[in-house]
Amino acid sequence: MSYTARSIVVLTGAGVSAESGINTFRAADGLWENHRIEEVATPEGFEHNPQLVHQFYNERRRLLLDKNIQPNPAHLALARFEQKFTSQCKGEFLLITQNIDNLHERAGSRNVLHMHGELLKMRCQRSHMVFEISTDLTYDNECRCCLSMGNLRPHVVWFGEMPLHMAQINRTLENCDLFISIGTSGNVYPAAGFYQLAKRRNAHTVELNLEKTGSDFDEHIYGPASSAVPDFLDGLLEGARAQFSKTSNSAG
Ligand code: APR
Repeated sequence: MSYTARSIVVLTGAGVSAESGINTFRAADGLWENHRIEEVATPEGFEHNPQLVHQFYNERRRLLLDKNIQPNPAHLALARFEQKFTSQCKGEFLLITQNIDNLHERAGSRNVLHMHGELLKMRCQRSHMVFEISTDLTYDNECRCCLSMGNLRPHVVWFGEMPLHMAQINRTLENCDLFISIGTSGNVYPAAGFYQLAKRRNAHTVELNLEKTGSDFDEHIYGPASSAVPDFLDGLLEGARAQFSKTSNSAG
């Protein structure tokens, strides 16, 4: 690794949580946990059959809260790296995740943006207020803000909807000098195009994935996230520390 960085953006996808026991999306049969995407992950699907959509996310939420689902070494390495890079090297670090689980936060990551929403949150469709939820959500739940039934939905971004935090994400991508993509297939935009935006601003771009995805990063590292991510980040931190002490010494 011959580069150093001051501002790092990491994008994670389902692959970073796979070894924690949460299934990825794009299985060969094109189904997500035995459902068609249009049924459970579109506003039209929710309008057509809210009970089914609630049931689908209730199952995902219950799984996430199962005691067997824990952050894996990739989540832990990202949290450790952020802590050290920002405190010891005075670097800037943003973690953008497409995942709706909370495993990055549970591992200790601080500066995290959930661009596709969060499973442990619900939203009122009338007021857009967001509330935490750790139990099942049904059509009959009374909304805390408008006190009526049928207005609450999972706080997740469905196909055809605008991802969250895009202004902040675009600003940070334009100014980063290293972009790292971990465990995402690169099938869903706008996230799939982030590396190109970073590249245009002369950032170095690195992909860590179990297998080849077809995206044209400057560097590709293949392997399971639980070992590839800690190995890569350890090397990166070593380089960043060396660079930081060199520049601090020459400035002093
Ligand atoms: N380590 C590293 N990468 C892995 C691992 C692993 N252990 N297991 C799987 N992967 C990789 C796969 O090779 C694949 O490229 O993770 C990727 C998962 O791809 P997807 O299932 O398409 O998930 P993701 O890219 O996060 O999907 C993006 O699509 O369905 C929507 O909103 C949903 O956020 C999701 C978005």
